Amino acid sequence: MTQPIQEQIVALVQELKQHNYNYYVLSKPSISDFEFDQKLKQLEQLEQANPTFVLADSPTQRVGGSPTKQFKQVAHKYPMLSLGNTYNETDLDEFDQRIKKTIESTVNYVCELKFDGLAIGLTYTNGKLTQAVTRGDGTVGDDVTENVKTILSIPQQLKAGNYPATFEIRGEVLMHKATFQKLNQKFAKELEAKGFDEEEIKDQLYKNPRNLASGTLKMQDPKEVAKRPLDAFLYYIYTDTPLKPTHFEQLQLAAEWGFQVDKHAKVCNSIEEVKQYIQYIESIKDELSFEIDGIVIKVNAIAQQEELGFTAKNPRWAISYKYKAASALTHLKGISYQVGRTGAITPVAELEPVLLAGTTVKRASLYNADEITRLGLCENDWVFVEKGGEIIPKITAVATEKRGLFANPYVFTVTCPECNAPLIRREGEAVHYCPNESNCPPQLIGKIEHFIGRKAMNIDGLGAETIGGLYRKGLIQNYADLYSLQASDLLGLSFEIGEEGSKKSRSLQEKSVQNILAGIEASKQIPFERVLFALGIRMVGETVAKKLAKHFGNIENIAQADANTLSGVFEIGEKIAEQIVRYFSDPNNLQIIEQLKTAGLLFESSANQAQLLSNKLAGKTVLVSGTFSMSRDALKQLIEQHGGRNVSAVSKSLSLLVAGDKMGPEKLAKATQMGVKIITENELLEMLKSV
Ligand code: IVH
Repeated sequence: MTQPIQEQIVALVQELKQHNYNYYVLSKPSISDFEFDQKLKQLEQLEQANPTFVLADSPTQRVGGSPTKQFKQVAHKYPMLSLGNTYNETDLDEFDQRIKKTIESTVNYVCELKFDGLAIGLTYTNGKLTQAVTRGDGTVGDDVTENVKTILSIPQQLKAGNYPATFEIRGEVLMHKATFQKLNQKFAKELEAKGFDEEEIKDQLYKNPRNLASGTLKMQDPKEVAKRPLDAFLYYIYTDTPLKPTHFEQLQLAAEWGFQVDKHAKVCNSIEEVKQYIQYIESIKDELSFEIDGIVIKVNAIAQQEELGFTAKNPRWAISYKYKAASALTHLKGISYQVGRTGAITPVAELEPVLLAGTTVKRASLYNADEITRLGLCENDWVFVEKGGEIIPKITAVATEKRGLFANPYVFTVTCPECNAPLIRREGEAVHYCPNESNCPPQLIGKIEHFIGRKAMNIDGLGAETIGGLYRKGLIQNYADLYSLQASDLLGLSFEIGEEGSKKSRSLQEKSVQNILAGIEASKQIPFERVLFALGIRMVGETVAKKLAKHFGNIENIAQADANTLSGVFEIGEKIAEQIVRYFSDPNNLQIIEQLKTAGLLFESSANQAQLLSNKLAGKTVLVSGTFSMSRDALKQLIEQHGGRNVSAVSKSLSLLVAGDKMGPEKLAKATQMGVKIITENELLEMLKSV
């Protein structure tokens, strides 16, 4: 059943407002520009056909975005408009024809890169930069002058020249791709040092240079801004009377005064030349040091621009052309299945290698059986693969017209590709599992890799490739075997590393053997809770392992506990309890634990457990989220020392949320909505101060 028109309009307005908020305020868009434009177009069409339902706050009625609070708000002298978008040659022809309806004389265009950054308006008074304002909602923006002064390519004083006493020039602030990579790596290291796990780090990092540039320009402290180098390209001079007859000459003028302008800007004498320019830029755009999200096409003659004027939102004399996410058509050669440490099976599409946005794509993840059904993949299909940003390629659709009449649909494998065990799929889960935990090679190797991991036994000197090599050479079958390795087993041992097709041979030399053995030896000092985590019991992550270690004190007590006793421990649910019982009922696992005990690993909590300092948080559940002046582990320990319990998710029963810097906006919104008490780190410390 279709929704009534008015409801559709209300729902679309709500959705678009949320996307605008995500984009402009949070700098974290959740859909692509293309999808946004499609939705906006849909809304425009619905509104046009039903003008009585147009809402006053519809995104079609305003430019989008809203200024942030902390900066001085400045009204734009000339509204900061957006541009209409085109996606194909027909759209471009229509634009050209629209223009020619108004302008009878010859029309030339200037084509420029559409920089993927943030718009900025710079005011110069007697050659001196006096104000820099962001776009905001198009009418009012943030005064970010001090931050902009850190951008070296923006002159604070113009070169001598014949510039007007006061004028505004607009352009785009952006961050180069290399700077973005470097900064994100640095942030990742900082977050890691603060105890964030990989998932959380991925979540917190900036997704692209535009978001990082935006976050940077909105920082309160210009000294911090200076540590994150930004750049700027200027693309339009605003004066009440034009200085030169054409836009292209105005750009050259700006360059003479000392502004950085786009070297790719080009005058095109026809829309056909514009199309060639678009094609040319598409072929070089991945080699640019910054990201662009299309091309801007502007009528060159200023007098013609004036004649064409503006609609409520866009200039009629300019339009953008947006490149679609890189997509390619290729042949699906087959589906292979990867087996993870827990036995989870991931189907992978094996593709005829195809060039996509500068890299050769051979594979795409298919996630699970449902995705294969959703796409309706058949043997020998031709499929469209897409790559957006850094994300791994995915199949977006099947070219069904290329399919034979009697093509066989793919049926998800029923047995494990590595060990042939029949797969299982638990009710309500999307993932298939191989249940053959103790004999299936990738599961065994995966478990050893988990065991040596940084948050588990942290064995330096060993990596995934060496583990694979040692396993294949028959030296290790499980992680306990690591403790029987001798220097003589390892010295000179050679094995293959690398992927199918690009294999190399590696042989272990004295230095690496020493490192490996020293790392194994040092792991014997790792505390019980981490050893417990390292065992890789399904559903026993770091937090659960910590709880178990604290509650039961040693491995025997855990192994002997039944599901009831286990789930009696706070926050250990029935499912986790079930997995723990299952693990300890497998004689194979018990034997491995015996081996580890003999090797000297710690299977008992140290007696000097953190002492209780007070009962101020007794009976309270606390969630810490974000970054703090101390590490999160230290903060969590403090909470426990005062009788509180750390939890990892927002729920109605949560007593306190300690909000640090950079905490996820969704968490914050959820906690606010549920009425959870939210406090800062300082407020918590104040609470815990003894009287
Ligand atoms: S001209 C009235 N030129 O794209 C003229 N804009 O979607 C408006 N942009 O707000 C802008 N590169 O932030 C122009 N070479 C370029 C541009 C450009 C990027 C951005 C700008 C603008 C948005 C419009």
